[in-house]
Amino acid sequence: MIGRLNHVAIAVPDLDAATATYRDQLGATVSAPEALPEHGVTVVFITLPNTKIELLHPLGEASPIQGFLDKNPRGGMHHLCYEVDDIITARDTLIATGARVLGDGEPKIGAHGKPVLFLHPSDFSGTLVELEQV
Ligand code: CO
Repeated sequence: MIGRLNHVAIAVPDLDAATATYRDQLGATVSAPEALPEHGVTVVFITLPNTKIELLHPLGEASPIQGFLDKNPRGGMHHLCYEVDDIITARDTLIATGARVLGDGEPKIGAHGKPVLFLHPSDFSGTLVELEQV
């Protein structure tokens, strides 16, 4: 069912420092910071030959990233995003096999303008999983 790894998201306490690490030390192509107020994050996209890395930094009062950074003050891997062809079929198949979908279960428009859903980390080896319809 799942396809390519679309991205790995890393929550970071200092977006400029993390961006500089990827750009200057690792030699990667990095985007300018992009504020996504509807998601409560500022994102820097790092393009690798086979996937992307997203650096996530809290934006606003109720950022979904803040709690994670409170528990992981130096930052850390936040979620993996897998591509699916049909997010509704994927969701219904996962629910039928016992997985839990976060929120109200309806896809939201994600950082790339495509429908996304998040799956409960306890059902996936302790890893928050995002599905993105491509
Ligand atoms: Co993501």
